Amino acid sequence: MLSQKMQDALNAQIQAEAYSAWLYLGMAAHAEQLNLKGMAHWLRVQHQEELGHAYKLFDFVHERGGRVALRTLEAPPAEYGTPLQLFEQVYKHEQHVTSLIHKLYETAVAEKDLATQVFLNWFVTEQVEEEASALEIVEKLKMIPEKSGAIFQLDKELGKRGRD
Ligand code: FEO
Repeated sequence: MLSQKMQDALNAQIQAEAYSAWLYLGMAAHAEQLNLKGMAHWLRVQHQEELGHAYKLFDFVHERGGRVALRTLEAPPAEYGTPLQLFEQVYKHEQHVTSLIHKLYETAVAEKDLATQVFLNWFVTEQVEEEASALEIVEKLKMIPEKSGAIFQLDKELGKRGRD
């Protein structure tokens, strides 16, 4: 059985993952407007991954006999700037999510909840990957001069992202 504190913290993380999904869908819409279809695809796959993260937490709360409480989602921004600025925001957002996961883990330790700690190990590892893939794109974008056709090459590459 989950403690009230642990349940509240897991519910807050469901909210954060659902917001991440919403944010990435907003970013995908922005990339579509820039006519960068590959980036839009990458962000849409990311949107789906985030929904998967929310579902994992949702299922875990139920498996532990807890109660899921959903709340209203905040609207994501409408503007994200250049492709580089867009992916810098992806990276920054992932760093933020990493800090949320670490705090959640600390709550599980404080609550002496071993099952939640083991469950959260997956998220800790996932965040390492999430940050690394966003940073890799940021670094590639930094190497592309403004208004260079190389952006379309990268766009094509990002359009190949599979559903992991
Ligand atoms: Fe669910 Fe990208 O963190």
